[in-house]
Amino acid sequence: MFKKIFTKILLREEIGLSLRHIDTMKIKIIIQIFIMKKNNCLAHTIFSLMCLLISAMYMSGQTNKDLPQLGKNSIKEVIAAMTLEEKAKLLVGNGFRMPGVTPQGPTVGQTQYKVPGAAGTTFAIPRLGIPSIVVADGPAGLRIQSIRNNDSSKTYYATAFPVATLLASTWDTALVKKVGIAFGSEVHEYGVDILLAPALNIQRNPLGGRNFEYFSEDPLIAGKMTSALVNGVESNGVGTSIKHFAANNQETNRNTVNAIVSERALREIYLKGFEIAVKGSQPWTVMSSYNKINGAYTSEEHDLLTTILREEWGFKGFVMTDWFGGRNPTEQMKAGNDLLMPGTSQQSQRIINAVNHDSLDVKVLDENIEHILEIILKSPSFKGYKYSDKPDLKNDAEVSRMAAEEGMVLLRNENNTLPLKNSKKIAVFGNTSYDIIAGGTGSGDVNKAYTISLTQGLTNDGFAVDADLKNTYANYLSAEKIKHPKKSFMEEFRNPTSPIAEMFVDNNLITQKAAENEIAVYTIGRNAGEGRDRKLENDFNLSDTERILIKNIADAFHAKNKKLVVVLNIGGVIETASWVNNADAILLAWQPGLEAGNAIANILSGKINPSGKLATTFPVRYEDVPSAKNFPGKEFPEQATTGTLGMRAVPAEVTYEDGIYVGYRYYNTFNVKPAYEFGHGLSYTSFDYSNLKLSAASFNKGITATVTVKNTGSVAGKEAVQLYITAPAKKLDKPSEELKEFAKTKLLKPGESQTITFTISSGDLASYDTNSGSWIAEAGTYKVKIGASSRNIKQTASFNVAKEMIVEKDHKVLSPQTEINEMKAQSKAF
Ligand code: BGC
Repeated sequence: MFKKIFTKILLREEIGLSLRHIDTMKIKIIIQIFIMKKNNCLAHTIFSLMCLLISAMYMSGQTNKDLPQLGKNSIKEVIAAMTLEEKAKLLVGNGFRMPGVTPQGPTVGQTQYKVPGAAGTTFAIPRLGIPSIVVADGPAGLRIQSIRNNDSSKTYYATAFPVATLLASTWDTALVKKVGIAFGSEVHEYGVDILLAPALNIQRNPLGGRNFEYFSEDPLIAGKMTSALVNGVESNGVGTSIKHFAANNQETNRNTVNAIVSERALREIYLKGFEIAVKGSQPWTVMSSYNKINGAYTSEEHDLLTTILREEWGFKGFVMTDWFGGRNPTEQMKAGNDLLMPGTSQQSQRIINAVNHDSLDVKVLDENIEHILEIILKSPSFKGYKYSDKPDLKNDAEVSRMAAEEGMVLLRNENNTLPLKNSKKIAVFGNTSYDIIAGGTGSGDVNKAYTISLTQGLTNDGFAVDADLKNTYANYLSAEKIKHPKKSFMEEFRNPTSPIAEMFVDNNLITQKAAENEIAVYTIGRNAGEGRDRKLENDFNLSDTERILIKNIADAFHAKNKKLVVVLNIGGVIETASWVNNADAILLAWQPGLEAGNAIANILSGKINPSGKLATTFPVRYEDVPSAKNFPGKEFPEQATTGTLGMRAVPAEVTYEDGIYVGYRYYNTFNVKPAYEFGHGLSYTSFDYSNLKLSAASFNKGITATVTVKNTGSVAGKEAVQLYITAPAKKLDKPSEELKEFAKTKLLKPGESQTITFTISSGDLASYDTNSGSWIAEAGTYKVKIGASSRNIKQTASFNVAKEMIVEKDHKVLSPQTEINEMKAQSKAF
């Protein structure tokens, strides 16, 4: 009973008393109870306890009567009542415990009992009415512990939504907002205040280990998808943290790497998505990244976190570090990195010392605290929201499946191999057909209740999956899994388990299966996650086993006039050009969340007509990638030190010689043919584009473009319509095409048309001129290109800009300290 009462006190739950102000007394009570329990005198204990509670209430009433309270008094008054120590604690999270790594401290600070598995909490100051708030990952679903205290009678599963790369491939911001609404309801119902997502770094290189967490190689898509997701999540009254700000485009040496980037590439590529997201959704928080930009840690860079983020873009929330990010708390405070996460007592102490030694003005702290308190005021914890721990997982699984279906990309479909018409008996190959990957690893992972495998999905849709192959794979996979027992998060982080090697299938068995079944489906799977970039061999490129299998399966089935469908269950781009001719159809399923198999089967069967398109390029060879020569950069191992959590920290740098030529901006401008281009995606129907009209021939304040899209095939379908602009390049180098607008049609019935209207603003015409620190639209002719992809342009029109326009003047900041040998389209001589 005592335990119950005091757990409740610790939890700050209502027990009919206002316990907000009794923290000091609480501690005394606990000590007293401890003494009394030792004395083992029950009656005396109850009596003393009641006296203490009454006196606690009385004393707290007296002590706090005149103290300002958050929500009742102004934030400034609340801050004025804080001690320096309280300030230094509020600016630093409550800490973090990882079994075997950081032995002290509760798992999630003061709310250790509240949301186990959350990533962190802030410091509570009950005497001023300031609660602790809880923050939790991550980008594809809420990451919290699903089982607490080994009690599996009650579970806390969250929905694994499709990874961001898939969401971007929907080209449908309304749908992504719906995902956000469902996602945010789980954040709210599980007692979390701020979701540590979405993540929107640019997929600069296909080997980026966290690419699955990110949306695209293009900042417009990344920014718009982020806004949509943030608006959806935050409509539940919880916050988000858009991350990792900025230029966090690799995992190799992520805590030390200095990204050397030109101001123009920063502005147009690496900051642009964040700018769109901040202006389009005003997220509660922004998470600074681990890396340096042009010499300074992002969390210590005032020009980034204050000049650009707040002054130029109007950000109103607070900035938190990535976990243990940056080095110098004083510089972080001055830069406007309001909250240091997960927080250590040393950081608080360093802040106190800096103020006491006059190297940090307490006004800086006050300003940062103000940003934090503005957000705490809006939080469910402050409002005392009674979360249910029972989100509507059934509804959210439906949303997850629907989104998965909309973002899968049909890369290839020779002779209408798909949808599967009369092929009911399927020989299913590939480990991940049976053990599908719902999402990536690390903080982007989700503790979900289940994942539907491809074979389950096919069975659910009425297909007959070859039972013999199914058993063979099941036996192989369970035997392999036993060899690799599940590791803790940190063990896995330090020493990730290699994926189970692809099961080799003997050619005789393949031939037998080609005789017994009507079609083959082969799934190629890939997984990755934070802490590590992907490898070229056996990852970007297929393994030898995969190459042999794909060829042998194709040969055996083709010999019988039967087909092979390849499903790609991957989070990042892989090589396809060398084996594409073996496959009659390729469905890029990405990592589609917990309903994976159902969503894939619905597309294979034709129940759903695929409408996803690539938001990232599939190059022919890795060497074609514009950043291949500059990824992951140089290391300086002789300067290695011991860094975060005792891990080796190697100073490193990476120079972005690719400049603004990231993804399709490069492939199109430099005429390098990709395997599958940005914007590509097939459908079971066909579309006709017509009647592109511009509202004016000469640009004044804006121009609208209208275009009609008609379903000319025989089944209903949706089309992602893309508007690219080719701008004059007299003064500044320009990519040959840049995406400026996009839209997805509704489900068009055969013969049905829809007219899409796009608005082109002056910002869409402007490029960043480093010399003047401004965005300028050059005078000349601008081509509007409406495409089904970046290389499949269906309609063009043009308009004129009579005189150069200065669209926006920015601060000239974040300049690189060294010369960068950046690619230039004009010379095309890289
Ligand atoms: C990741 C962040 C994540 C944080 C908290 C870091 O290692 O980079 O994306 O939000 O941990 O788990």
